[in-house]
Amino acid sequence: MFSIRNLSKEFKQGNQIQKVLKGIDLEVNKGDLITIMGPSGGGKSTLLYSLALLSEPTSGEIFFQNKKVDFQNEKTLEGLRRNNIGLIFQNPNLISSLTPVENLVIVMNSKEGHKEKVRKAEELLKMVGLSDKKKASISSLSGGEAQRVAIVRALVNKPSILLCDEPTGALDSENGSNVINILLNIREETQCALVIVTHDENIGRLGERRLYLRDGVIDEIKRDSKVI
Ligand SMILES: Nc1ncnc2c1ncn2[C@@H]1O[C@H](COP(=O)(O)OP(=O)(O)O)[C@@H](O)[C@H]1O
Ligand SMILES: [Mg+2]
Repeated sequence: MFSIRNLSKEFKQGNQIQKVLKGIDLEVNKGDLITIMGPSGGGKSTLLYSLALLSEPTSGEIFFQNKKVDFQNEKTLEGLRRNNIGLIFQNPNLISSLTPVENLVIVMNSKEGHKEKVRKAEELLKMVGLSDKKKASISSLSGGEAQRVAIVRALVNKPSILLCDEPTGALDSENGSNVINILLNIREETQCALVIVTHDENIGRLGERRLYLRDGVIDEIKRDSKVI
């Protein structure tokens, strides 16, 4: 589905060039469950944003469904992102002046009427146990509740890949495992690929493929390895 070939990413700051990703090769196939661990500053978020087509590689290529992604064509790029990619961050980043339902409706790209969108939003909130919070103010939600809204917001357009950047990083362990269970169930139900960047070894171990990113280079940890 996604194929990253020899991808490098550099950031320029003044006269300094920092090489953050160094010739990464990575395939993500339908339904994959991939976890990415590694030290802070190793390039995990940068890699995730490359997969999200938000960050143009300095060199190398990204293919989506065997077609090379053209970063110069903003319109196509936007369509690819909207229709195929769901993103979840450490912080939910909800729009605080809108209700949970409205936060979902506003990112829906289907041509359905408003009523139908609201119905779908309510259904998604129900799926994560938030029916009674559908019209609550965002500031009244707990961290775990807000993150569950952010998860279903990432799902509204039925993405084929769900990219999560430390999705439990701001949660206590109970809310964290709740969020992970929801993500695993979603993958099961929708067959989307799930890529989770995490510092938590227990979550890292859940990966059917486990990647370790350090200094811009990936190591794939063999399934039976006892290293981590
Ligand atoms: N937009 C940017 N501009 C400049 N430097 C950046 C930018 N994004 C990331 N970096 C640098 O790239 C390195 C890797 O960052 P990141 O991908 O966020 O690592 P990780 O998620 O593994 O902690 C860091 O040194 C960071 O400062
Ligand atoms: Mg990061």
